[in-house]
Parts: sequence; structure tokens; C-alpha cells
Amino acid sequence: MRMIARMLRRPLPALLAALAMAGPALAGPQEGAAKAQACAACHGPEGNSTNPAIPSLSAQPKQFIVSALYQFREGKRKNEQMTPMAAGLSNADMNDLAAYFAMQKAPAPQHKTKPENIDPGKRLTAQHNCIACHAGNLMGQQHIPRIAGQHEAYLREQLRGFKASTRAEMDGVMTSAAQALSEKDIEVLADYLAGLPAAN
Ligand code: HEC
Ligand code: HEC
Repeated sequence: MRMIARMLRRPLPALLAALAMAGPALAGPQEGAAKAQACAACHGPEGNSTNPAIPSLSAQPKQFIVSALYQFREGKRKNEQMTPMAAGLSNADMNDLAAYFAMQKAPAPQHKTKPENIDPGKRLTAQHNCIACHAGNLMGQQHIPRIAGQHEAYLREQLRGFKASTRAEMDGVMTSAAQALSEKDIEVLADYLAGLPAAN
């Protein structure tokens, strides 16, 4: 737990912090709404994706979206569909898009968690400190994403990726967190998290 408290206190990497402050304060969401039209084909209207392999962006913390776009743009995190989309974004674009998507509401989840996975899922999120970093309601905070109500298939693939060290990330904490998870834990967690309402 001490490690987590330290991580949450630690300032964002300097570059990200500078990115988050770039641009006029009011430009964000309005500019973002126009720029976000290019994202809807994959991430859905208002960032609510209906494709199980593509994450929803609605109600994600602003800093997390900036951090993810930055990692795609710099080629640290790679995906054949997403990388070309991030390649041409300026720092101001990333900020505007993030401000817009962070303000969008996530609908009630379509996914229904299997009854036998509810208690084990809840237990795993406490035992492995998911709730310490991703916040008690799993809505994320700062550069840590919302995982409540995200697509089951996407959550499962990302957790497998962190465990195998194939999913890139800013500072390695999630790769460490995933090491203790068994394949069964990953399946239970993905099913559990996908059924949680987004508390927005
Ligand atoms: C052609 C389809 C496509 C388009 C268009 C697209 N994306 Fe993506 N995006 C993806 C896929 C697929 C992923 C998941 C990549 C992975 O599995 O790592 C992704 C992931 C992301 C993530 C990381 C989310 C997370 O939870 O980790 C962000 C942020 C993002 N996209 C933002 C955008 C923005 C902003 C736009 C518009 C400028 C956009 N995307 C346009 C396909 C697309
Ligand atoms: C020490 C803090 C910490 C702990 C503990 C932690 N996470 Fe994370 N998690 C993060 C951070 C930071 C990221 C974002 C990494 C990045 O993309 O830079 C993340 C990303 C994720 C993602 C990717 C989501 C997306 O939209 O791309 C999933 C899924 C996830 N965590 C699930 C979990 C689960 C389940 C647990 C508990 C088993 C957990 N995390 C524990 C910090 C943590």
C-alpha cells in the first residue's frame, strides 16, 4: 500500500504535466467535440464504443486520455488501428479531445456479470489493490483509467497484455500489478468489471 500512496503522490512525468497545461483553459471541450468526430467510427458516439475490442473513452479521466494518446503518438504503445490516428495529433489536440471525452457520460453497462463471479471479482479488486489505484468505484483518477463498465473482451486482453509485458504503459506499475493474476483471475475480473456501472 505504501508503494501505491507514493505513486499517487508522485507528480506526473514532467512532459505529461506540461502537456496537460498547454493551451487556453476554455478551448478544451468545444474544440474537442469537433475533433472527436474522427474517433466516432471506432469509439462510438460520445466515446461509447459498441465494439467489444475497442475501449469506451467516455468518463475517462482527462489525464489518462492524454497519457494514452501521447504513448500512441510516440510509438511507445502500438496498435495498427490506433497508432495512425494518434500520429498527427498536436499537444493541443490531445488536450481538447481528452477534455471532451472526460465530460461524456457512460451509459448503464450492457454486460451482465455471471452471478458466481460477483463476490470473487469484488474480493480480487481489494486483494490486488485495484481499488487503491483505480479508485473505490473503479472510475479511475489522474492518469489511471476508468475500468468500471469497460468492455469485457478489451479488459481481458489488456490484463493478459500487462501480464505478458506486451501492453506498454507510462511507468510499469500495472505490469507489476498483473503479475500475481492467474488466467482465471483475469477472466473473473474482466467479467466483474464490465458489469459495474460507471458512477458518473
Ligand atoms: C480505426 C479505429 C480507431 C479510430 C478511428 C480511433 N481509435 Fe482510438 N483506439 C482504437 C483501438 C482498436 C484501440 C485499442 C488499442 C489497444 O488494444 O491497445 C484504441 C485505443 C484508444 C485509446 C486508449 C484507451 C484505453 O482505455 O486504453 C485512446 C485514448 C484512444 N483510442 C483515443 C482515440 C481518439 C481521441 C481518436 C480520434 C482522434 C481515436 N482514438 C480514433 C481504434 C481507433
Ligand atoms: C499501483 C497502481 C495500480 C494498481 C494496483 C492497479 N492498476 Fe490498473 N492501471 C494503473 C495505471 C497507472 C494504468 C494505466 C497504464 C498506462 O496506460 O499508462 C492502469 C491500467 C489498467 C488497465 C487498462 C485499461 C485501459 O483502458 O487501457 C486495466 C484493465 C487495469 N489497469 C486493471 C487493473 C486491475 C484489474 C487491477 C487489480 C488486479 C489493477 N489494474 C491494479 C495502475 C494500477
